[in-house]
Amino acid sequence: MKKIEAIIRPGALQAVLDGLKSVGYPGVTVTEVKGHGKQKGITETYRGQSVEGLLPKMVVTAVVRDKQVAKVIKAIIQSAHTGEIGDGKIFISAVMDVVRIRTGERGEKAI
Ligand SMILES: Nc1ncnc2c1ncn2[C@@H]1O[C@H](COP(=O)(O)OP(=O)(O)OP(=O)(O)O)[C@@H](O)[C@H]1O
Ligand SMILES: [Mg+2]
Repeated sequence: MKKIEAIIRPGALQAVLDGLKSVGYPGVTVTEVKGHGKQKGITETYRGQSVEGLLPKMVVTAVVRDKQVAKVIKAIIQSAHTGEIGDGKIFISAVMDVVRIRTGERGEKAI
């Protein structure tokens, strides 16, 4: 199992959620964050203004089976890519276990 954390522009959120739905992915967590990449926010624009420092971003987190990783990443890229700086980044990490609290199921069955 892998955790996919996509840090995206707030304006791309709905498209990314729609893209995830279209590849059959049910479980997702969305978090509002602030951050900057290698340009330190200086050359990105937000709501038409050039901003220096931390910019609002959204994190879309999904834990998926290993065999779903490629198509989930592809769907996120297709939905969030503009080609401009600040499009975001996807972090992928290993997940040791998952527990569904209601049933006690573990691992892939609990995703
Ligand atoms: N190395 C990193 N570690 C943690 N968060 C990061 C990292 N790089 C980027 N982020 C987060 O992702 C957001 C989007 O990053 P961004 O797309 O600007 O990356 P970048 O490397 O500067 O690429 P680009 O040149 O396309 O802008 C940042 O605002 C920050 O929240
Ligand atoms: Mg950047």
